[in-house]
Amino acid sequence: MTEYKKPKKIKTPPLFYFLKKANSTRPQLQIDLIKDVGNIVKLSHFLPTLAIYHPDYAKHILLTNQQNYIKSDVNFRALADIIGQGIVTNNGKKWKSQRDNLAPLFQPRVITNQLPTLVHHIKEMAIRWQHFANNKKKINLTDEIMKLLLKTAMKNFMNEEINDKNSDDIILLSKMMNVYVGKFHYLFKFLPLPSHYKLRKIKKNIDAYLLSIIHKRKQQTSWPEDLLTQLLKMKDEDQKELTQTDLLAELTTLLIASIESLSHTLSWAWYYLLHHPQVFEKIKNEIKENYNLQHFNSEFELPYTKAMIEETLRISTPAWILTRRALKEDYIDGYTIPANTNLFIYIYALHHHPDFWETPEKFIPERFLDENRKKIIRHSYIPFGIGPRNCIAGYTAIKQAQVILAELLTRFNYKFDPSQRIESQVLVTRGIKKGLWVSITS
Ligand code: HEM
Repeated sequence: MTEYKKPKKIKTPPLFYFLKKANSTRPQLQIDLIKDVGNIVKLSHFLPTLAIYHPDYAKHILLTNQQNYIKSDVNFRALADIIGQGIVTNNGKKWKSQRDNLAPLFQPRVITNQLPTLVHHIKEMAIRWQHFANNKKKINLTDEIMKLLLKTAMKNFMNEEINDKNSDDIILLSKMMNVYVGKFHYLFKFLPLPSHYKLRKIKKNIDAYLLSIIHKRKQQTSWPEDLLTQLLKMKDEDQKELTQTDLLAELTTLLIASIESLSHTLSWAWYYLLHHPQVFEKIKNEIKENYNLQHFNSEFELPYTKAMIEETLRISTPAWILTRRALKEDYIDGYTIPANTNLFIYIYALHHHPDFWETPEKFIPERFLDENRKKIIRHSYIPFGIGPRNCIAGYTAIKQAQVILAELLTRFNYKFDPSQRIESQVLVTRGIKKGLWVSITS
């Protein structure tokens, strides 16, 4: 006789739970929900919205049965208002064709060949930092890293040297996008607010700038093998060339993706290093012994530095939440997921889950050294997502982070500015509010 198990009931937090937790930060609230309610939580009595806190459930949604879960909640539509319908916001055949076309450009071989461009821009930046050091000026490290990553992406993607005005515009767009989506300003997009006007103006400037680059490329007789060429040669799912709108969406998406999460990761990494002198010392020694500051060699091995970056991506993961919508009814571990349910997979909560991590609040890079890695529970660590929609540039991000730290950590001495209050800013990504301020000496 077949034995049918009773479906499990998904719990909702008690009435007034969220009011009582009004002072919790958004990620901390998720840890409280795990402890108080469970690994799958119905967030509202009225809206079909579930929070997911278990690695196996995340695996089911993002990997095993991913075809049933698309990116299509209001947040994605709001994101598309700013960056357009590109690889991050599309679904179905259109997304697949974009992913297939772009994936080869993020292969390790290609990325390794691009690292000297990053080193070149770091050295340029280091000259500027030397002036700051001589004049005892503080720097906003987050903004500096954003500019560096953007310069590098412009060169690698489009063979362009970006000027300060265009760079400021793109960085501002990225910051305003975070507020527009993360603080739900899109709900008021039809109101004539100054911030909406400013956002549209900046977007227009950036579109004009990118169009001028596309136009220039089209005039050239020979094209370099870069992302822009790939996009210009690309055929969409109907074998048609990309439209101007598609091209702008793809370029804007990839530029913003290149600077956002990685600048936050590096800011948090510097923050932790400045608060963990023993780890900092170990990293500096590793760099001195294994990395050639005079002549860049892409074959470098910095296992402890890499482990420190991975621990930063665990403890202060910038991509703190992934959202999906269920197309059809589904079942996860005895729970029924009705069609059209919105699912919030809290990466931050997975990375701090008390059942899967020992002392999750402690910064311990050793967790990610080869000898300890096997203790990590599968899918409890997913800073780059998992499944077909995982980050296209996970390898790029880790490699670039290592080069930036190796080039900069031993060139200067850094001091945390004690006058600042470090607060996390939890919007589309999770960064440091107002950026990380440090003073440097040589
Ligand atoms: C530390 C840095 C980074 C982190 C933590 C990160 C994290 C993520 C995560 C979690 C996703 C999956 C989103 C989802 O499933 O909904 C994603 C997607 C994506 N990331 Fe990253 N990312 C980083 C750096 C980058 C960089 C440098 C690029 C360069 C272009 C990039 C480009 C993308 C793209 C294009 C997607 C969409 C992939 C798709 O839907 O097929 N990311 N990223």
